[in-house]
Amino acid sequence: MFHDCLEDLLSSPPPVLISYSMSSHLEQCPHTMEIGLYAMLHIKKWSIRARVLLAFLAILAPFVGFAGIAALHFGTLMHTHLRTQEEASVDLMRTSDVMAAADGLMLSVEAYVASDDQQAQQQVSGYLTRLREAFRMLHTTPLKGDEERAFVDALREPVSRLEALGREVVAPTPFPANHERADKAAALARLHNRIDATLHRLMTVHVREIDDAKRRVSDVGRQVIVVMFVTLIVSGLGALSIGVPLADWLSGPIRAIAHGSRRVAEGDLSHRVEIGGGGELEEAAQAFNTMAERLERSAVENAALYGAARERADRIAAVNRLTKIISASLDIGAVYETFAAELKRFIPYTRMGIVLSEESGARLKLFQLVGTPLAEVPLGMIWPNGQGTGVAWVMSHRRPHCESDLATAGRFVEDGMLTKEGIRSTVRLPLIAGGQVIGVLFLDDVASGRYTEHDLDLLVPLGEQLAIAIENARLHREMEQKVEERTRTLKQTQAQLIQSGKLAAVGTLAAGVAHELNQPLMIIRGYAQELLGDGRIADAETRDDLRRIEAQTTRMAAIITHLRDFSRQSTGRREATDLNRIVADALAFLHQQLKTRNIVVTQDVDPALPPVSVDSLQIEQVLLNLITNARDAIEATGTGAIAIRTQRASDGRIALSVTDTGPGIPAEIQPRIFDPFFTTKEVGKGTGLGLSICYGIVDAHGGELTMESPVADGRGARFTMRLPSAGQADRVEDQV
Ligand SMILES: Nc1ncnc2c1ncn2[C@@H]1O[C@H](COP(=O)(O)OP(=O)(O)OP(=O)(O)O)[C@@H](O)[C@H]1O
Ligand SMILES: [Mg+2]
Repeated sequence: MFHDCLEDLLSSPPPVLISYSMSSHLEQCPHTMEIGLYAMLHIKKWSIRARVLLAFLAILAPFVGFAGIAALHFGTLMHTHLRTQEEASVDLMRTSDVMAAADGLMLSVEAYVASDDQQAQQQVSGYLTRLREAFRMLHTTPLKGDEERAFVDALREPVSRLEALGREVVAPTPFPANHERADKAAALARLHNRIDATLHRLMTVHVREIDDAKRRVSDVGRQVIVVMFVTLIVSGLGALSIGVPLADWLSGPIRAIAHGSRRVAEGDLSHRVEIGGGGELEEAAQAFNTMAERLERSAVENAALYGAARERADRIAAVNRLTKIISASLDIGAVYETFAAELKRFIPYTRMGIVLSEESGARLKLFQLVGTPLAEVPLGMIWPNGQGTGVAWVMSHRRPHCESDLATAGRFVEDGMLTKEGIRSTVRLPLIAGGQVIGVLFLDDVASGRYTEHDLDLLVPLGEQLAIAIENARLHREMEQKVEERTRTLKQTQAQLIQSGKLAAVGTLAAGVAHELNQPLMIIRGYAQELLGDGRIADAETRDDLRRIEAQTTRMAAIITHLRDFSRQSTGRREATDLNRIVADALAFLHQQLKTRNIVVTQDVDPALPPVSVDSLQIEQVLLNLITNARDAIEATGTGAIAIRTQRASDGRIALSVTDTGPGIPAEIQPRIFDPFFTTKEVGKGTGLGLSICYGIVDAHGGELTMESPVADGRGARFTMRLPSAGQADRVEDQV
């Protein structure tokens, strides 16, 4: 009910109309007082001075009012009782005056009667005057009680008679006789006693009145103390019950501002203080709110500035770190992976890749790719960079391009395809090294709006570094290849030199030995043959011995022929020869024995092979040696095949290779197989001169003889002879 009334009341704006509104609600609402106080406390159009004044009045007014009424009441009472006391005292004093005058008269009359002197007579006259005056005063006093009045009235007659008797006693004429005077004095004494008794009773009444008045005054004093005490307690309680809501009302806005200040100090800059209704407190609240607003604005600005500065610092640090990563290694694959992982912390992407233009021309190839594979994109794949593609645009404009929504952009031809793959945002950045656009770095993301121009601040310098790193790696790789090539050539030349040196030394020795041994050997062989032809030697055993001598000397002659061949390092007459024909001749020569051993021979000859300028007999000898070695190797393990191939090598030379499926050449003997007299064959079967003679012949032709083993499945050996083509050989000769 109360709240309904209150709702009603407070919902009737504006506050200045509350007194008006209240009157219309008071009749319906029984909680008038509560509403009055509540409404008063909720009228917020109060200045601090008005609030303090009102609070002071609200607490002081009841106390002052109550104390004032009590003071008035008890003051009046006190005054009445004090006055009564005072009047009673006056009455008492006047009564005692009468008594004193009567007593004095009595005593002076007795003295006069006794002395009869003039002075005593005058004293009697004086007392008579005093008595008359005192009684007149007593009689004219406005006495209150009937009892007192009755006593005073009762005294009038005896006092008159006492006066009369006194006058008679002291009357000069006729001078009374002594006994008369004594009688009159006695009558006067009796009358005095009566008057004295009445006066005593009257005085008792006065004294009682005085005591009553005193008691009442004292009662009033006690009541005043009690009332003041009660007033103090009631006022205290009243002050408390009024003071607490008043204090709240008074301090509420200040507390609201203090609370707001605390919240703001704690960092809640969005806090605002709601104090309406004008006055200094509303002004203070508005000032507080303005201050908080400014603080909040400047805090937001500061935060934005700080965030921007921090982001800039982070990006600079990232650029430095990424630059370090980029320049740390020439292994661009490893660099790229670290770079991609590091970059993702600042610029997210679903996939990131680099396409590089081939050195040969305009084609672009996918060089690196990291991230979620959205579609199968193999490295090395040719990247579309035709007319209208984003890549082509970026490369030709040498400017990065950033697309935040491919679905709506449709600017470049590949946008549709990327959208189908699920890509929404993309950045394409040209990679420029040494002034040349060498490729494009791209970042793709499945989320739209992922990239902005802002990201280019970071990407552009990184792209520059990456391009330099790629170019450096490319140059480094080229350099390494060249170094490798040169080293290989150097090693080969060195090996050739060593081999040539060895061959030359052995050749000289061999030529000497062959020459020295040939003569005696021929004589021995001649004699042996002669004896065999002599019919006189019929003994079979002797003939066998002679045949053995002849066979061994024939073999020795063959060795000597080999040695002579070996020592003869120069080539014979050279002529342009078709290497395929030499192959055909050699195979025709060996065909039968290879067939007998079930060795399959395959040929893969290039029919368009340019001619070579060689001594065909020597080259055929080389080929025969190589095929024979292959045959022997295959024979050692069973059956197999020999493949002969001729082709034009990448360097323009003509290559002839003999590959077999034999056991291969163990790695440990590979360095020695071209050495003269190195053989693994049993004594009598091989001289170990075959390959060294081949090597010497090929070397003398300006070519090279190399070996690979194993060839396949851990088996086989391939000997390749590379000879300069006829044209190359002519050029070399011209230069020489
Ligand atoms: N195709 C091959 N397969 C396996 N080993 C081979 C092959 N060709 C050569 N060799 C090895 O190289 C060694 C040297 O060969 P080289 O032709 O110089 O001498 P040889 O064949 O042993 O004797 P010769 O040639 O005088 O009959 C051989 O003994 C053999 O061990
Ligand atoms: Mg051999």
